[in-house]
Amino acid sequence: MATRSVTALGGISASHRPRIEAAESGKESIGEMLLKTRYVSVDPYLQGIALDTPLGRHMGADSIMEVLEAGPRAAHLPGDLVQGFGGWRSHLVSTGTESLWQTGTFPMVFPAFRRLDPRWYDDALPLATALSAMGGPGMTAWGTLSKFLTVGAGDTLVISGASGAVGTLVGQLARLAGARVVGTTSSPQKAEYLLRLGFDTVVVYRQGDSAESVRDALARAAPDGVDRYFDNLGGAVTDVVFSLLNVGSQVAVCWQWATQVGQDVVGPRLLPYIMFTRTTVRGIFSLEWFTDENWQALHTELGGRVRRGEVVCDHTLHHGFDNIPAAYGSLYHDRGANLGKVLVEL
Ligand SMILES: NC(=O)c1ccc[n+]([C@@H]2O[C@H](COP(=O)([O-])OP(=O)(O)OC[C@H]3O[C@@H](n4cnc5c(N)ncnc54)[C@H](OP(=O)(O)O)[C@@H]3O)[C@@H](O)[C@H]2O)c1
Repeated sequence: MATRSVTALGGISASHRPRIEAAESGKESIGEMLLKTRYVSVDPYLQGIALDTPLGRHMGADSIMEVLEAGPRAAHLPGDLVQGFGGWRSHLVSTGTESLWQTGTFPMVFPAFRRLDPRWYDDALPLATALSAMGGPGMTAWGTLSKFLTVGAGDTLVISGASGAVGTLVGQLARLAGARVVGTTSSPQKAEYLLRLGFDTVVVYRQGDSAESVRDALARAAPDGVDRYFDNLGGAVTDVVFSLLNVGSQVAVCWQWATQVGQDVVGPRLLPYIMFTRTTVRGIFSLEWFTDENWQALHTELGGRVRRGEVVCDHTLHHGFDNIPAAYGSLYHDRGANLGKVLVEL
């Protein structure tokens, strides 16, 4: 149970703040809520969390929950829908305050549960999108494009590992901004999917393919070089892209699946490539953008585009609590079947 004092209130709306602070200063039980999980998100970053989770403790995960009961000083009321790091649990008792997860590499602060305004969700923008386009993946894509990568007409943008929740949104938004969008993905079926979403060119690459083949394919896909790179993969694809960067290019490092999970750790030194090109490389850590103001902007801007049919936000939905491990395993073993955001509906 979280007992830390609340210093950064993250996504909690202002109207709820006094009650949280009161809960923190009072007895914990009167600020607790009983919540029922409605959707669980399975994400690649959970790999690090899984490795650090002690035996006997529940697995962590982002989720959408409904408040069933709430103490008098709880942050939310019975009937409220909230999004937060509820984990692989059908029900939980929690204060919903932010919590610290100290991993081997860096401290991760999971924000306080965010109340979901029911008026924001309907058939065009279903509740599940609070874990996809209207949640962390959406904030990652929209945040990167509105706060770092300046993408404009004529730019060539490459996205590695493009078929997931984040990559598909980045690609579609960049396309709408006038960029030429190149994606990499692991199968011809997913390549077709990305082309249907409006990607201009897709390179099929699977870890283990030769570096020469991916070099040739990317050089053909980006004959004028690469202006913007959104990196989910690292490894051999990133090695090649760095050698294709143009002057004034920008690189957003969102994740390094091939390096962190696939152990693709041998490659050329990359820094020499960015000197002449004066490339800006920035790490992405989307939690920095989880503010009330940004959630509102995400809802208005990206949510509006989804509603108008300008951006497609697909989900691969699994069903039932017992299927959460299989859904998570599908990120590794059955990813050909996964398009867009992978979720479990309980
Ligand atoms: N830095 C941040 O703040 C932040 C925030 C959100 C997400 N992320 C990270 O960004 C990445 C994309 O997130 P997402 O929500 O789009 O995830 P996702 O929907 O699960 O997509 C992950 C992508 O990784 C690709 N991939 C490549 N090699 C893989 C392998 N060996 N096993 C499994 N997948 C592999 C897959 O592409 P193909 O199958 O098409 O190759 C898939 O499209 C993830 O790694 C996630 O952890 C970072």
